[in-house]
Amino acid sequence: MAPIPHGELRPPARRDQPVPCTWDAKKYLRQYYSSVETTERHTLRFVVKALESLRSGALGLEFGCGPTVHHLLPLAARAAEIHAADLLPENLSAIRRWQLGSREAHDWTAFTRETLRLEGTTSPSEPQVRERETLARRRLTRCLTGDARLACPLGPQSAARYDCVVSLFCADSATGSLADWMRYTHNIISLLRPGGLLVLAALRQCHFYSVGGLAFPSPCIDERHVQLSLDAAGFDREKQVIEVAEVPDQSKHGFDSIVMASAIAPG
Ligand SMILES: C[S@@+](CC[C@H](N)C(=O)[O-])C[C@H]1O[C@@H](n2cnc3c(N)ncnc32)[C@H](O)[C@@H]1O
Repeated sequence: MAPIPHGELRPPARRDQPVPCTWDAKKYLRQYYSSVETTERHTLRFVVKALESLRSGALGLEFGCGPTVHHLLPLAARAAEIHAADLLPENLSAIRRWQLGSREAHDWTAFTRETLRLEGTTSPSEPQVRERETLARRRLTRCLTGDARLACPLGPQSAARYDCVVSLFCADSATGSLADWMRYTHNIISLLRPGGLLVLAALRQCHFYSVGGLAFPSPCIDERHVQLSLDAAGFDREKQVIEVAEVPDQSKHGFDSIVMASAIAPG
């Protein structure tokens, strides 16, 4: 599907395409990650809270990480090892640049500071920020190509199962079709070991979101669909949290709320 210039939002000819090849990691980072905006304030808060139940020494995966590392920052405090996966090599290169401390890498320090604050450090110092980033760089041991469309999203030869899978704004960014979103979410969930912790987030009731002036399809899901997908995978409702957060300042990008979920896998 050719992306639609923002301002002319209309249904695309097909709604089941993955991220168009016009994805631009730099524009994405500039638009959404120049500062800590409301979407990330809510998401980081939710992730930090959800990770409190993760045992230390866990093996963690961020699936659909994009060119971002900010969700690895809270995970690094808990997991002994972290893998990051995404469909696009360009995104994984951005992460490697950050890991290697390249001068071209995006600056995530504001997000590191926010993470530390959410974890309880009232006024994080520069050394504390550096220490967390160093930890995250060390914990991140693999950058993997992953495709949520596949029944084995990390490839048929991968038998890896994770204690924690964090997947934020991935499956809903991969398709405009609700049925496909359900399938992709199911595939991502399959990467959890029994009893593992799942942390999800998605744009809520959104048909399109914009990146760099182009509109990308979203399946217009809300908390009911998230609940359905957790039910379908056999998650216990007693061991899950589903939360909606309003982000009215993001309406210029095509959405004004998000839905987040954390849940313990059956087994
Ligand atoms: C909106 S970005 C979210 C990135 C990051 N998680 C964040 O919170 O900013 C969506 C990401 O999903 C990835 N993606 C799209 N389709 C995918 C697929 N089929 N499998 C895996 N990742 C996919 C894109 O490459 C992109 O990095």
